[in-house]
Amino acid sequence: MSGVGTDSSRIIAAIDIGTTKVLTVIGRRAGDGCVEVLGHGVAPCAGVRKGVVEDVHATQTAVRSSVSKAESESGAHVDTAFVGITGMGISYERRLDSIDWVGEHGVITYNEVEKVPDSVTGNGSNGNHFGRKVIHAIPRTYSIDGKMGVSDPMGMHTSKVDVEMHLVQASDLEVSRLSQAVEGAGIRIEALVLEALASCESVLTQEEKVRGSALIDMGGGTTDVMVFKDGTMQYSSVIPVGGYQFTNDICVVYNTSYEAAEEVKLTRASVLPNSAKIHEEVSLPISGGHTSLKVSLHDICQLTRERAQELMRLIILKLREGGLHDLTDYRIILSGGASRLNGFHELFSVGTSANVRIGAPLGYLGVPRQLQTPMSSTGAGILLWAAQQQDDDPKPHAIGQHKRRRKQGSQEVAVTNGHGSSNGHNGANGNGSHKRGGILSLFSR
Ligand SMILES: Nc1ncnc2c1ncn2[C@@H]1O[C@H](COP(=O)(O)OP(=O)(O)OP(=O)(O)O)[C@@H](O)[C@H]1O
Ligand SMILES: [Mg+2]
Repeated sequence: MSGVGTDSSRIIAAIDIGTTKVLTVIGRRAGDGCVEVLGHGVAPCAGVRKGVVEDVHATQTAVRSSVSKAESESGAHVDTAFVGITGMGISYERRLDSIDWVGEHGVITYNEVEKVPDSVTGNGSNGNHFGRKVIHAIPRTYSIDGKMGVSDPMGMHTSKVDVEMHLVQASDLEVSRLSQAVEGAGIRIEALVLEALASCESVLTQEEKVRGSALIDMGGGTTDVMVFKDGTMQYSSVIPVGGYQFTNDICVVYNTSYEAAEEVKLTRASVLPNSAKIHEEVSLPISGGHTSLKVSLHDICQLTRERAQELMRLIILKLREGGLHDLTDYRIILSGGASRLNGFHELFSVGTSANVRIGAPLGYLGVPRQLQTPMSSTGAGILLWAAQQQDDDPKPHAIGQHKRRRKQGSQEVAVTNGHGSSNGHNGANGNGSHKRGGILSLFSR
Protein backbone atom coordinates (compact mmCIF):
# COMPACT_ATOMS: atom_id res chain seq x y z
CA MET A 1 0.00 0.00 0.00
CA SER A 2 1.45 3.39 -0.88
CA GLY A 3 0.67 6.89 -1.92
CA VAL A 4 -0.53 9.00 1.01
CA GLY A 5 1.32 11.20 3.44
CA THR A 6 4.56 10.40 5.15
CA ASP A 7 3.35 7.39 7.09
CA SER A 8 1.95 5.31 4.29
CA SER A 9 3.10 2.00 5.82
CA ARG A 10 0.26 2.36 8.30
CA ILE A 11 -2.45 2.74 5.70
CA ILE A 12 -4.95 -0.10 5.88
CA ALA A 13 -7.53 -1.33 3.39
CA ALA A 14 -10.66 -3.15 4.58
CA ILE A 15 -12.93 -5.00 2.15
CA ASP A 16 -16.45 -6.14 3.09
CA ILE A 17 -17.70 -8.54 0.42
CA GLY A 18 -21.43 -8.62 1.08
CA THR A 19 -24.27 -10.38 -0.70
CA THR A 20 -25.42 -7.15 -2.33
CA LYS A 21 -22.34 -4.93 -2.41
CA VAL A 22 -18.59 -4.73 -1.88
CA LEU A 23 -17.47 -1.90 0.38
CA THR A 24 -13.80 -0.95 0.56
CA VAL A 25 -12.63 1.44 3.26
CA ILE A 26 -9.10 2.85 3.31
CA GLY A 27 -7.74 4.49 6.42
CA ARG A 28 -5.13 4.38 9.12
CA ARG A 29 -4.87 4.00 12.84
CA ALA A 30 -5.31 7.24 14.72
CA GLY A 31 -4.60 6.06 18.29
CA ASP A 32 -6.92 5.28 21.22
CA GLY A 33 -8.70 2.62 19.19
CA CYS A 34 -9.77 5.17 16.56
CA VAL A 35 -9.14 5.38 12.83
CA GLU A 36 -8.80 8.09 10.24
CA VAL A 37 -10.75 7.18 7.11
CA LEU A 38 -9.13 8.42 3.90
CA GLY A 39 -11.63 7.11 1.38
CA HIS A 40 -14.16 4.44 0.54
CA GLY A 41 -15.80 2.85 -2.47
CA VAL A 42 -18.96 0.80 -2.97
CA ALA A 43 -19.79 -1.46 -5.92
CA PRO A 44 -22.82 -3.70 -6.42
CA CYS A 45 -21.97 -7.38 -6.25
CA ALA A 46 -23.78 -10.22 -8.01
CA GLY A 47 -21.32 -12.99 -7.25
CA VAL A 48 -22.19 -13.70 -3.61
CA ARG A 49 -25.09 -15.77 -2.27
CA LYS A 50 -25.97 -15.91 1.42
CA GLY A 51 -22.62 -14.35 2.25
CA VAL A 52 -20.57 -16.88 0.27
CA VAL A 53 -18.72 -16.29 -3.01
CA GLU A 54 -20.42 -18.35 -5.72
CA ASP A 55 -19.31 -16.55 -8.86
CA VAL A 56 -15.63 -15.74 -8.48
CA HIS A 57 -15.43 -13.65 -11.63
CA ALA A 58 -18.43 -11.42 -10.77
CA THR A 59 -17.12 -10.93 -7.23
CA GLN A 60 -13.65 -10.12 -8.53
CA THR A 61 -15.12 -7.43 -10.81
CA ALA A 62 -17.02 -5.90 -7.87
CA VAL A 63 -13.93 -5.97 -5.65
CA ARG A 64 -11.85 -4.27 -8.33
CA SER A 65 -14.48 -1.59 -8.87
CA SER A 66 -14.98 -0.85 -5.17
CA VAL A 67 -11.22 -0.77 -4.47
CA SER A 68 -10.61 1.52 -7.41
CA LYS A 69 -13.27 3.99 -6.14
CA ALA A 70 -11.72 3.93 -2.67
CA GLU A 71 -8.26 4.46 -4.18
CA SER A 72 -9.43 7.51 -6.15
CA GLU A 73 -11.05 9.04 -3.08
CA SER A 74 -8.09 8.40 -0.79
CA GLY A 75 -5.18 8.84 -3.20
CA ALA A 76 -3.70 5.58 -1.84
CA HIS A 77 -2.90 2.45 -3.79
CA VAL A 78 -4.17 -0.85 -2.38
CA ASP A 79 -2.22 -4.06 -2.82
CA THR A 80 -3.07 -5.79 0.48
CA ALA A 81 -6.28 -5.80 2.48
CA PHE A 82 -8.17 -7.18 5.46
CA VAL A 83 -11.24 -9.01 4.19
CA GLY A 84 -14.51 -9.98 5.89
CA ILE A 85 -15.89 -13.51 5.90
CA THR A 86 -19.30 -14.92 6.86
CA GLY A 87 -21.77 -17.59 5.70
CA MET A 88 -23.06 -20.97 6.77
CA GLY A 89 -19.58 -22.46 6.33
CA ILE A 90 -18.38 -20.65 9.46
CA SER A 91 -18.28 -22.81 12.57
CA TYR A 92 -17.73 -21.93 16.18
CA GLU A 93 -16.19 -24.15 18.79
CA ARG A 94 -15.51 -23.69 22.48
CA ARG A 95 -12.58 -25.67 23.72
CA LEU A 96 -10.60 -26.09 26.91
CA ASP A 97 -6.83 -26.53 26.83
CA SER A 98 -4.21 -26.95 29.52
CA ILE A 99 -1.05 -24.91 29.27
CA ASP A 100 1.94 -25.93 31.36
CA TRP A 101 4.61 -23.62 29.94
CA VAL A 102 3.42 -20.37 31.54
CA GLY A 103 4.68 -18.81 34.74
CA GLU A 104 8.26 -19.93 34.13
CA HIS A 105 9.57 -16.73 35.70
CA GLY A 106 7.38 -16.87 38.80
CA VAL A 107 4.38 -15.00 37.40
CA ILE A 108 2.43 -15.16 34.19
CA THR A 109 3.80 -12.52 31.87
CA TYR A 110 2.28 -10.40 29.13
CA ASN A 111 4.31 -12.21 26.46
CA GLU A 112 3.11 -15.59 27.68
CA VAL A 113 -0.53 -14.53 27.63
CA GLU A 114 -0.05 -13.25 24.10
CA LYS A 115 1.26 -16.61 22.95
CA VAL A 116 -1.70 -18.60 24.27
CA PRO A 117 -3.96 -18.57 21.16
CA ASP A 118 -1.12 -19.54 18.83
CA SER A 119 0.06 -22.32 21.09
CA VAL A 120 -3.43 -23.77 21.51
CA THR A 121 -4.21 -23.77 17.81
CA GLY A 122 -0.74 -24.99 16.86
CA ASN A 123 0.15 -21.82 14.97
CA GLY A 124 -2.87 -22.18 12.78
CA SER A 125 -2.12 -25.72 11.67
CA ASN A 126 -2.88 -28.25 14.45
CA GLY A 127 -5.99 -26.33 15.44
CA ASN A 128 -7.45 -26.65 11.99
CA HIS A 129 -9.94 -29.47 11.55
CA PHE A 130 -9.66 -31.26 8.25
CA GLY A 131 -10.99 -29.04 5.46
CA ARG A 132 -11.32 -26.05 7.78
CA LYS A 133 -9.20 -23.04 8.56
CA VAL A 134 -8.99 -21.21 11.89
CA ILE A 135 -9.94 -17.56 11.40
CA HIS A 136 -9.90 -16.40 15.03
CA ALA A 137 -8.82 -17.95 18.32
CA ILE A 138 -10.28 -15.94 21.17
CA PRO A 139 -9.50 -16.70 24.82
CA ARG A 140 -12.72 -16.39 26.85
CA THR A 141 -11.63 -17.23 30.34
CA TYR A 142 -8.75 -18.80 32.24
CA SER A 143 -8.56 -21.20 35.15
CA ILE A 144 -5.56 -20.71 37.43
CA ASP A 145 -4.65 -23.67 39.65
CA GLY A 146 -8.27 -24.80 39.41
CA LYS A 147 -9.72 -21.37 40.19
CA MET A 148 -12.15 -20.75 37.35
CA GLY A 149 -13.39 -17.59 35.70
CA VAL A 150 -10.18 -15.56 35.59
CA SER A 151 -10.47 -13.00 32.85
CA ASP A 152 -6.95 -11.59 33.08
CA PRO A 153 -4.24 -14.00 34.31
CA MET A 154 -1.26 -11.70 33.82
CA GLY A 155 0.86 -11.24 36.90
CA MET A 156 -0.59 -14.26 38.73
CA HIS A 157 1.59 -16.92 40.39
CA THR A 158 1.03 -20.34 38.93
CA SER A 159 2.56 -22.99 36.76
CA LYS A 160 -0.63 -24.42 35.34
CA VAL A 161 -3.28 -22.60 33.41
CA ASP A 162 -6.36 -23.87 31.63
CA VAL A 163 -7.81 -21.65 28.95
CA GLU A 164 -11.26 -21.71 27.43
CA MET A 165 -11.08 -20.54 23.82
CA HIS A 166 -13.64 -19.60 21.22
CA LEU A 167 -12.44 -20.84 17.83
CA VAL A 168 -13.93 -19.48 14.64
CA GLN A 169 -13.27 -21.64 11.60
CA ALA A 170 -14.22 -21.40 7.94
CA SER A 171 -14.44 -24.07 5.29
CA ASP A 172 -11.38 -24.33 3.04
CA LEU A 173 -13.62 -24.11 0.01
CA GLU A 174 -15.15 -20.80 1.07
CA VAL A 175 -11.77 -19.37 1.99
CA SER A 176 -10.37 -20.48 -1.33
CA ARG A 177 -13.24 -18.90 -3.33
CA LEU A 178 -12.93 -15.66 -1.37
CA SER A 179 -9.17 -15.63 -1.91
CA GLN A 180 -9.56 -16.23 -5.64
CA ALA A 181 -11.99 -13.31 -5.90
CA VAL A 182 -9.76 -10.92 -3.96
CA GLU A 183 -6.41 -12.06 -5.34
CA GLY A 184 -7.83 -12.16 -8.86
CA ALA A 185 -8.47 -8.46 -8.36
CA GLY A 186 -4.76 -8.02 -7.64
CA ILE A 187 -5.00 -7.75 -3.85
CA ARG A 188 -3.24 -9.91 -1.30
CA ILE A 189 -5.26 -10.88 1.79
CA GLU A 190 -3.55 -9.88 5.03
CA ALA A 191 -6.14 -11.50 7.25
CA LEU A 192 -9.72 -12.65 7.22
CA VAL A 193 -12.04 -11.09 9.77
CA LEU A 194 -15.37 -12.56 10.88
CA GLU A 195 -17.93 -10.03 9.65
CA ALA A 196 -20.07 -10.08 12.79
CA LEU A 197 -16.98 -9.45 14.93
CA ALA A 198 -16.04 -6.55 12.67
CA SER A 199 -19.53 -5.04 12.96
CA CYS A 200 -19.25 -5.25 16.76
CA GLU A 201 -16.00 -3.27 16.55
CA SER A 202 -17.68 -0.33 14.86
CA VAL A 203 -21.15 -0.42 16.40
CA LEU A 204 -20.99 -1.54 20.05
CA THR A 205 -19.88 0.80 22.78
CA GLN A 206 -17.34 -0.46 25.27
CA GLU A 207 -20.03 -0.48 27.94
CA GLU A 208 -22.31 -2.64 25.78
CA LYS A 209 -19.48 -5.13 25.23
CA VAL A 210 -18.87 -5.43 28.94
CA ARG A 211 -22.42 -5.34 30.36
CA GLY A 212 -23.91 -7.65 27.73
CA SER A 213 -25.27 -7.05 24.27
CA ALA A 214 -26.24 -8.89 21.12
CA LEU A 215 -25.48 -7.53 17.69
CA ILE A 216 -27.84 -8.64 14.93
CA ASP A 217 -26.38 -7.71 11.52
CA MET A 218 -29.17 -8.11 8.99
CA GLY A 219 -27.61 -7.94 5.54
CA GLY A 220 -28.80 -8.83 2.07
CA GLY A 221 -28.28 -12.60 2.35
CA THR A 222 -27.44 -13.37 5.95
CA THR A 223 -28.28 -12.29 9.48
CA ASP A 224 -25.21 -12.55 11.69
CA VAL A 225 -25.75 -12.89 15.44
CA MET A 226 -23.04 -12.15 17.98
CA VAL A 227 -23.27 -11.96 21.75
CA PHE A 228 -20.78 -9.95 23.80
CA LYS A 229 -20.38 -9.95 27.58
CA ASP A 230 -17.53 -9.20 29.97
CA GLY A 231 -15.76 -7.51 27.07
CA THR A 232 -15.44 -10.60 24.92
CA MET A 233 -17.38 -12.53 22.31
CA GLN A 234 -19.53 -15.24 23.92
CA TYR A 235 -21.48 -16.67 21.03
CA SER A 236 -21.93 -16.20 17.32
CA SER A 237 -24.02 -17.70 14.58
CA VAL A 238 -25.20 -17.04 11.04
CA ILE A 239 -28.82 -17.26 9.83
CA PRO A 240 -29.07 -17.64 6.04
CA VAL A 241 -31.89 -15.09 5.77
CA GLY A 242 -31.57 -11.39 4.98
CA GLY A 243 -33.13 -8.58 2.97
CA TYR A 244 -33.15 -10.73 -0.18
CA GLN A 245 -35.89 -12.99 1.21
CA PHE A 246 -38.18 -10.00 1.93
CA THR A 247 -37.84 -8.82 -1.67
CA ASN A 248 -38.16 -12.33 -3.07
CA ASP A 249 -41.45 -12.87 -1.20
CA ILE A 250 -42.96 -9.85 -2.98
CA CYS A 251 -41.55 -11.09 -6.30
CA VAL A 252 -42.96 -14.58 -5.97
CA VAL A 253 -46.36 -13.69 -4.53
CA TYR A 254 -47.12 -10.93 -7.08
CA ASN A 255 -45.17 -12.38 -10.02
CA THR A 256 -43.22 -9.17 -10.41
CA SER A 257 -39.57 -8.36 -11.16
CA TYR A 258 -36.92 -8.35 -8.42
CA GLU A 259 -36.16 -4.68 -9.12
CA ALA A 260 -39.82 -3.63 -8.77
CA ALA A 261 -40.21 -5.68 -5.59
CA GLU A 262 -37.02 -4.17 -4.12
CA GLU A 263 -38.24 -0.66 -4.93
CA VAL A 264 -41.56 -1.28 -3.17
CA LYS A 265 -39.81 -2.82 -0.18
CA LEU A 266 -37.48 0.15 0.20
CA THR A 267 -40.01 2.92 -0.38
CA ARG A 268 -43.48 1.67 0.66
CA ALA A 269 -43.36 -1.56 2.66
CA SER A 270 -43.49 -1.80 6.43
CA VAL A 271 -43.84 -4.62 8.91
CA LEU A 272 -46.74 -2.70 10.46
CA PRO A 273 -49.70 -3.28 8.08
CA ASN A 274 -51.88 -0.82 9.99
CA SER A 275 -49.55 1.97 8.93
CA ALA A 276 -50.98 1.59 5.37
CA LYS A 277 -54.25 3.31 4.54
CA ILE A 278 -57.13 0.89 3.89
CA HIS A 279 -57.42 1.42 0.11
CA GLU A 280 -53.81 2.39 -0.60
CA GLU A 281 -52.50 0.56 -3.66
CA VAL A 282 -49.17 -0.08 -5.32
CA SER A 283 -48.67 -0.74 -9.02
CA LEU A 284 -46.37 -3.68 -9.78
CA PRO A 285 -45.29 -4.75 -13.30
CA ILE A 286 -46.12 -8.38 -14.09
CA SER A 287 -43.01 -10.40 -15.01
CA GLY A 288 -42.65 -11.11 -18.71
CA GLY A 289 -45.65 -9.00 -19.71
CA HIS A 290 -46.44 -5.36 -20.42
CA THR A 291 -49.20 -5.00 -17.88
CA SER A 292 -49.10 -4.14 -14.23
CA LEU A 293 -51.12 -5.18 -11.26
CA LYS A 294 -52.64 -2.99 -8.56
CA VAL A 295 -51.86 -4.51 -5.18
CA SER A 296 -53.07 -3.50 -1.74
CA LEU A 297 -50.21 -1.95 0.23
CA HIS A 298 -51.74 -3.44 3.38
CA ASP A 299 -51.31 -6.93 1.86
CA ILE A 300 -47.66 -6.23 0.97
CA CYS A 301 -47.06 -5.04 4.53
CA GLN A 302 -48.74 -8.16 5.91
CA LEU A 303 -46.45 -10.33 3.77
CA THR A 304 -43.43 -8.35 4.94
CA ARG A 305 -44.57 -8.66 8.55
CA GLU A 306 -44.83 -12.45 8.31
CA ARG A 307 -41.26 -12.70 6.98
CA ALA A 308 -40.07 -10.30 9.70
CA GLN A 309 -41.78 -12.35 12.42
CA GLU A 310 -40.22 -15.53 11.07
CA LEU A 311 -36.77 -13.90 11.06
CA MET A 312 -37.34 -12.56 14.57
CA ARG A 313 -38.20 -16.08 15.79
CA LEU A 314 -34.99 -17.44 14.26
CA ILE A 315 -32.97 -14.68 15.90
CA ILE A 316 -34.56 -15.37 19.31
CA LEU A 317 -33.80 -19.10 18.91
CA LYS A 318 -30.16 -18.27 18.20
CA LEU A 319 -29.99 -15.91 21.16
CA ARG A 320 -31.38 -18.65 23.43
CA GLU A 321 -28.78 -21.04 22.02
CA GLY A 322 -26.23 -18.39 23.00
CA GLY A 323 -27.52 -18.41 26.59
CA LEU A 324 -29.74 -15.31 26.41
CA HIS A 325 -32.94 -16.53 28.01
CA ASP A 326 -33.94 -13.24 29.56
CA LEU A 327 -33.42 -10.69 26.80
CA THR A 328 -34.24 -7.82 29.14
CA ASP A 329 -30.75 -8.21 30.63
CA TYR A 330 -29.13 -7.43 27.28
CA ARG A 331 -29.04 -4.52 24.88
CA ILE A 332 -29.98 -5.67 21.36
CA ILE A 333 -28.39 -3.75 18.50
CA LEU A 334 -29.84 -4.18 15.00
CA SER A 335 -27.52 -3.33 12.14
CA GLY A 336 -27.00 -4.11 8.43
CA GLY A 337 -29.12 -2.71 5.60
CA ALA A 338 -32.19 -4.87 6.30
CA SER A 339 -32.47 -3.46 9.83
CA ARG A 340 -33.76 -0.27 8.16
CA LEU A 341 -36.94 -2.01 7.09
CA ASN A 342 -39.81 0.20 8.24
CA GLY A 343 -41.21 -0.91 11.57
CA PHE A 344 -38.73 -3.75 12.20
CA HIS A 345 -37.21 -1.99 15.17
CA GLU A 346 -40.66 -1.55 16.78
CA LEU A 347 -41.67 -5.15 16.00
CA PHE A 348 -38.46 -6.47 17.55
CA SER A 349 -38.73 -4.25 20.65
CA VAL A 350 -42.32 -5.32 21.34
CA GLY A 351 -41.69 -8.98 20.43
CA THR A 352 -38.71 -9.37 22.75
CA SER A 353 -39.34 -6.71 25.47
CA ALA A 354 -35.65 -5.97 25.10
CA ASN A 355 -33.84 -2.67 24.97
CA VAL A 356 -33.32 -2.41 21.20
CA ARG A 357 -31.48 0.18 19.14
CA ILE A 358 -30.41 0.51 15.49
CA GLY A 359 -26.61 0.44 15.24
CA ALA A 360 -24.27 2.14 12.81
CA PRO A 361 -20.52 2.87 13.04
CA LEU A 362 -19.82 5.21 15.94
CA GLY A 363 -18.61 8.63 14.87
CA TYR A 364 -16.27 8.99 17.84
CA LEU A 365 -14.19 6.07 16.53
CA GLY A 366 -13.25 8.25 13.57
CA VAL A 367 -15.79 6.90 11.10
CA PRO A 368 -17.02 9.78 8.89
CA ARG A 369 -20.68 10.68 8.49
CA GLN A 370 -21.06 9.03 5.04
CA LEU A 371 -20.15 5.69 6.62
CA GLN A 372 -22.33 6.07 9.71
CA THR A 373 -25.04 3.84 8.20
CA PRO A 374 -26.05 0.28 9.16
CA MET A 375 -24.85 -0.95 5.74
CA SER A 376 -21.30 0.23 6.49
CA SER A 377 -20.98 -1.39 9.94
CA THR A 378 -18.95 -4.35 8.68
CA GLY A 379 -16.64 -2.40 6.32
CA ALA A 380 -15.87 0.24 8.95
CA GLY A 381 -15.50 -2.51 11.57
CA ILE A 382 -12.93 -4.44 9.51
CA LEU A 383 -10.85 -1.26 9.32
CA LEU A 384 -11.12 -0.73 13.10
CA TRP A 385 -10.28 -4.37 13.77
CA ALA A 386 -7.24 -4.16 11.49
CA ALA A 387 -6.08 -0.94 13.14
CA GLN A 388 -6.22 -2.70 16.51
CA GLN A 389 -3.82 -5.33 15.22
CA GLN A 390 -1.15 -2.85 14.34
CA ASP A 391 1.56 -2.52 16.90
CA ASP A 392 3.75 0.50 17.30
CA ASP A 393 6.29 -0.94 14.93
CA PRO A 394 5.42 0.59 11.59
CA LYS A 395 6.88 -2.30 9.59
CA PRO A 396 4.59 -3.19 6.70
CA HIS A 397 1.96 -5.82 7.09
CA ALA A 398 2.97 -9.17 8.43
CA ILE A 399 -0.32 -10.44 9.80
CA GLY A 400 -0.82 -13.96 8.62
CA GLN A 401 2.81 -14.87 9.09
CA HIS A 402 3.06 -13.86 12.73
CA LYS A 403 0.78 -12.33 15.25
CA ARG A 404 0.48 -8.76 16.30
CA ARG A 405 -0.07 -7.29 19.69
CA ARG A 406 -3.64 -6.41 20.38
CA LYS A 407 -4.25 -2.94 21.67
CA GLN A 408 -6.68 -1.60 24.23
CA GLY A 409 -10.02 -0.28 23.15
CA SER A 410 -11.32 -3.32 21.37
CA GLN A 411 -13.38 -6.18 22.74
CA GLU A 412 -10.76 -6.99 25.30
CA VAL A 413 -11.38 -4.88 28.33
CA ALA A 414 -10.24 -5.33 31.88
CA VAL A 415 -13.15 -6.82 33.76
CA THR A 416 -13.24 -6.67 37.52
CA ASN A 417 -15.27 -9.73 38.36
CA GLY A 418 -13.73 -10.71 41.61
CA HIS A 419 -11.54 -13.32 39.97
CA GLY A 420 -9.37 -11.13 37.83
CA SER A 421 -6.01 -9.67 38.46
CA SER A 422 -7.17 -7.85 41.54
CA ASN A 423 -7.40 -11.09 43.51
CA GLY A 424 -4.81 -12.63 45.78
CA HIS A 425 -2.87 -14.21 42.94
CA ASN A 426 -1.59 -10.92 41.74
CA GLY A 427 2.11 -10.65 41.24
CA ALA A 428 4.47 -7.87 40.44
CA ASN A 429 2.80 -6.68 37.27
CA GLY A 430 -0.77 -7.28 38.25
CA ASN A 431 -2.19 -3.81 37.91
CA GLY A 432 -5.44 -5.10 36.50
CA SER A 433 -5.21 -3.01 33.36
CA HIS A 434 -3.60 -5.56 31.13
CA LYS A 435 -5.65 -7.00 28.28
CA ARG A 436 -6.05 -10.71 28.05
CA GLY A 437 -4.44 -12.61 25.17
CA GLY A 438 -5.39 -11.18 21.84
CA ILE A 439 -7.55 -12.24 18.99
CA LEU A 440 -5.05 -13.48 16.49
CA SER A 441 -5.41 -13.85 12.82
CA LEU A 442 -4.20 -17.32 12.01
CA PHE A 443 -5.04 -17.16 8.36
CA SER A 444 -1.91 -18.18 6.55
CA ARG A 445 -1.59 -18.13 2.85
N1 LIG B 1 -34.50 1.26 3.93
C1 LIG B 1 -34.45 -0.08 3.79
N2 LIG B 1 -35.55 -0.83 4.06
C2 LIG B 1 -35.52 -2.17 3.91
N3 LIG B 1 -34.44 -2.86 3.51
C3 LIG B 1 -33.33 -2.17 3.21
C4 LIG B 1 -33.27 -0.74 3.35
N4 LIG B 1 -32.04 -0.33 2.97
C5 LIG B 1 -31.37 -1.44 2.63
N5 LIG B 1 -32.13 -2.53 2.76
C6 LIG B 1 -31.77 -3.94 2.46
O1 LIG B 1 -30.54 -4.23 3.06
C7 LIG B 1 -29.88 -5.27 2.31
C8 LIG B 1 -28.44 -4.89 2.09
O2 LIG B 1 -27.83 -4.71 3.34
P1 LIG B 1 -26.25 -4.83 3.52
O3 LIG B 1 -25.59 -3.87 2.62
O4 LIG B 1 -25.98 -4.72 4.97
O5 LIG B 1 -26.04 -6.32 3.01
P2 LIG B 1 -24.71 -7.05 2.49
O6 LIG B 1 -23.59 -6.67 3.36
O7 LIG B 1 -24.55 -6.80 1.04
O8 LIG B 1 -25.12 -8.58 2.66
P3 LIG B 1 -24.63 -9.72 3.71
O9 LIG B 1 -24.03 -9.04 4.88
O10 LIG B 1 -25.88 -10.45 4.04
O11 LIG B 1 -23.69 -10.58 2.95
C9 LIG B 1 -30.65 -5.40 0.99
O12 LIG B 1 -31.44 -6.59 1.02
C10 LIG B 1 -31.56 -4.16 0.98
O13 LIG B 1 -32.77 -4.40 0.33
MG1 LIG C 1 -22.89 -7.43 5.21
